[in-house]
Amino acid sequence: MKYHIKTYGCQMNYSDSERIASVLELAGYKKTAQESDADLIVINMCSVRKSAVDRIAGNFKKYKQYKKINPNLKIVLTGCVLESDRERFEKLFDVVETRHCLVSTAKPHYQNKFSAYVPIMTGCNNFCSYCVVPYTRGREKSRPAEEIIGEITGLVDNKYKEIILLGQNVNSYKSKVHKVESQKCDFPKLLKLINNIPGNFWIRFLTSHPKDMTEELIKIIARCEKITPHIHLALQSGDDEILKKMNRKYTAEHFLDLVKLIRKYIPDVTITTDIIVGFPDETERQFQRTAEVMREAKFDMVYINKYSPRAGTASYKMKDDVSWEEKKRREKILTEILKKTALENNRKYVGKIVEVLVEKIDGSFIYGKTRSFKNVKMGIKNRELGIKKGEFLEVKITKAKFWNLEGEVVK
Ligand code: SAH
Ligand code: SF4
Ligand code: F3S
Repeated sequence: MKYHIKTYGCQMNYSDSERIASVLELAGYKKTAQESDADLIVINMCSVRKSAVDRIAGNFKKYKQYKKINPNLKIVLTGCVLESDRERFEKLFDVVETRHCLVSTAKPHYQNKFSAYVPIMTGCNNFCSYCVVPYTRGREKSRPAEEIIGEITGLVDNKYKEIILLGQNVNSYKSKVHKVESQKCDFPKLLKLINNIPGNFWIRFLTSHPKDMTEELIKIIARCEKITPHIHLALQSGDDEILKKMNRKYTAEHFLDLVKLIRKYIPDVTITTDIIVGFPDETERQFQRTAEVMREAKFDMVYINKYSPRAGTASYKMKDDVSWEEKKRREKILTEILKKTALENNRKYVGKIVEVLVEKIDGSFIYGKTRSFKNVKMGIKNRELGIKKGEFLEVKITKAKFWNLEGEVVK
């Protein structure tokens, strides 16, 4: 029996798919890269924007075709499914299974041999007015610290070089350590415990909510040598009234103060963010405030999302009154600001020697990332070096572009 998993959405879903794969393999299934070849197709779904949901429904004709050829084919829908879509999907798929279980005893099929996703919590208690995640993933649940440390220790023993901690809101992580109720472990403490695991590896984490980003946490990120200088902190909007309607629980000023504090403690930091354009009633002036905050924060990357009304969320009751064209125009303006700040930030690397983790090698180039999450492209000059994926290199940066750096391997 062969299985194929198709994953949509965020890293959390990709991580879940790695764990689903291991459970299927334990049950005797073999992986196939060819969807049409499978006896079991698992669709790990995202509902955050309407476009993602439509894409899945749109694929259904193709699945019907597969079923004609292979009558034994079963199609399972899992992941983030909205209750309001359930009925429609139950008619289309054989099984709709959406309970999120954070822990799997099976060893996951990690994406590769040097970089691994490690979920530390799932769910969300924040109920931002536009967002489905609290409805699809339920309330926050943290994984026991002991279990996380155990998994990472095993990965490091197997020479993994990059550990990516995942959660919808990692900095509200809360759990027990060593099964002693009194020894509660929060995110800063968990980071310290992971940093103390012996070995040469990097720690990344995402995503962080501004309301839980404390000075204590920033200091720990600065102080722990394995934690990489990259913080993803979602802004969503730079206008206080919109932020209030979004139920984000901070102001633009607070966000900018956090950015200042982060840059004070971690001067070489990369800061990335998410923004929504065209939230209901967003006026030109309110949009311009987001643009202003962007200019001041000088982000390295911004994931710009056009507002998409989602059934069941609080903002669904508000009129989606910013047109698609206007959302596109706003997105374009923000992209131009991003290009300026990203290039300005990238230029600071030129002439410097930085550590790079090799991720990909093709005929003529090596691709990797700096500790600060910058993509670097390097020419292959000294083939005799025998550079492999998952190795750390010393690289001299020679050129800065908008979305990446170019460099030469020094060592
Ligand atoms: N927990 C994360 C976000 C997870 S959802 C955080 O708060 O940072 C990922 C991103 O999708 C969000 O940051 C938001 O920018 C976008 N998003 C969520 N719901 C959306 C909607 N209804 N329309 C458009 N974008 C949305
Ligand atoms: Fe969604 Fe807000 Fe939770 Fe992020 S913090 S997952 S945007 S509800
Ligand atoms: Fe992620 Fe989409 Fe679910 S963004 S948490 S897969 S709704």
